[in-house]
Amino acid sequence: MSRGLPTVSSDRTIDRSEALVDRASELVPGISQTGSKTPTQFVQGVSPTHIERAKGSRLWDVDGNEYVDCNAALGPILLGHNYPAVTEAVTEQLQDGTMFTMEHPLHVEVAELLAEVVPCAEMVKFAKSGNDVTTLAAKVARAHTGRDVIATQGYHGWPDVWMADNENLNAGIPDAVGDYTESFEYNDIESVERIFEDHPDDVAAIVTTPVNLEEPEDGFLEELRDLADREGAVLVFDEVLTGFRFAIGGAQEYFGVTPDLACFAKAMANGYPISALAGSREVMGVMNDDDFFYSMTYAGDAASLAAAKAAITVQREEDVHGHIAEKGAALMEGYNDLAAELELADVTRAEGFPARFSIGFDDDIGTGAPTEDEDGSGGRLVRSLFMQEAHRRGVLYTGSHLPTYSHTDQDVEFTLEVYRECLEVVSEALEAGDVAERLEGDLVGATLRERTGEND
Ligand SMILES: Cc1ncc(COP(=O)(O)O)c(C=O)c1O
Repeated sequence: MSRGLPTVSSDRTIDRSEALVDRASELVPGISQTGSKTPTQFVQGVSPTHIERAKGSRLWDVDGNEYVDCNAALGPILLGHNYPAVTEAVTEQLQDGTMFTMEHPLHVEVAELLAEVVPCAEMVKFAKSGNDVTTLAAKVARAHTGRDVIATQGYHGWPDVWMADNENLNAGIPDAVGDYTESFEYNDIESVERIFEDHPDDVAAIVTTPVNLEEPEDGFLEELRDLADREGAVLVFDEVLTGFRFAIGGAQEYFGVTPDLACFAKAMANGYPISALAGSREVMGVMNDDDFFYSMTYAGDAASLAAAKAAITVQREEDVHGHIAEKGAALMEGYNDLAAELELADVTRAEGFPARFSIGFDDDIGTGAPTEDEDGSGGRLVRSLFMQEAHRRGVLYTGSHLPTYSHTDQDVEFTLEVYRECLEVVSEALEAGDVAERLEGDLVGATLRERTGEND
């Protein structure tokens, strides 16, 4: 699927993007609906803010500028934007309607598909977003165990149960909720054990992202499995980002550790809004109890179910994950080679996994800029300059990289050529001590992951 390279116009503007931001700022608190899509996450004045259309690995902003996509809409796009098999399945379903007074048969079909491909899935319940199913997982675990405390690590969404323990982002959450959420460190089994010691017989669940950017070390996932079994707690993997991305059966298949419950959303339907809680019959069965309540009008919309069926079927029939692993590894290795060649490897690197990695800059880079003192982060200034240069050249760099089945060798080569030029600018700016002067827009704000205290 070869396409021409993004054409970068010398009179590139972002006028329409900026006009939309002006209008939204009067109407929409925070301007965007999604934390990571807020204009402050980008170099305001240079970066686009609104995307009009996308196809395969490419995006076009509202001013007609074309980009190679690196971020896959924060994860939902696994096969590529507007992927034909998914678009056709949804279009066909639309002719028959999407919401009915009773369930559509696809509801059973997609549950059966999930049970076939996801190791922990003996029963399945659908919802719309990642938040819905992570929060449902906590409720199921509490109902199943009759305990209250949730031991957690990683980002699981905005609901109170997840943010209660985050002192930077707990506005609007009663203090008492925080008594039942306890955080631990990834790869630190003792930090999890301490929560069990502090709350004897009251920890309902260990809820964790199975993997972040770092590898699980020293059998960490196996140790979580053993600890949960020993203590009678429910082990929950939040696979909202890793599900269908690391493997068709998620990170639990990739790492060979099966949780009691797992949460899926993003890549499950290649961009259509559907999520699922999957898990063992024993734990999920509590939802059949008379006093357990969960209901959602839109949970079983047939268009999203059709998208999920098509997206999962493509993954079963084609080597989607092999392709993503190959293109991701080429990008990661290519970037790290460039950083080494330009003698920047001590301040920037691609880290993580080919299916999901991050390209970032160390916080303590000395740039000599006044903003460093105000902001405490030379890294953010350098990242802003790198982003500015990438966006101008047609690569929609955001930091996080989520390659898709539609990324071609040509996309990888183009992206690496652009990254080479961006790193050359960074290198010159660091040498001259004029990083801040070269930044033509605003410094990027803290990422959602930084604000929520995540390590990625
Ligand atoms: C691991 C993880 N869990 C939960 C969520 C929340 O999902 P959503 O934004 O679909 O509600 C996200 C979103 O980024 C996520 O990455």
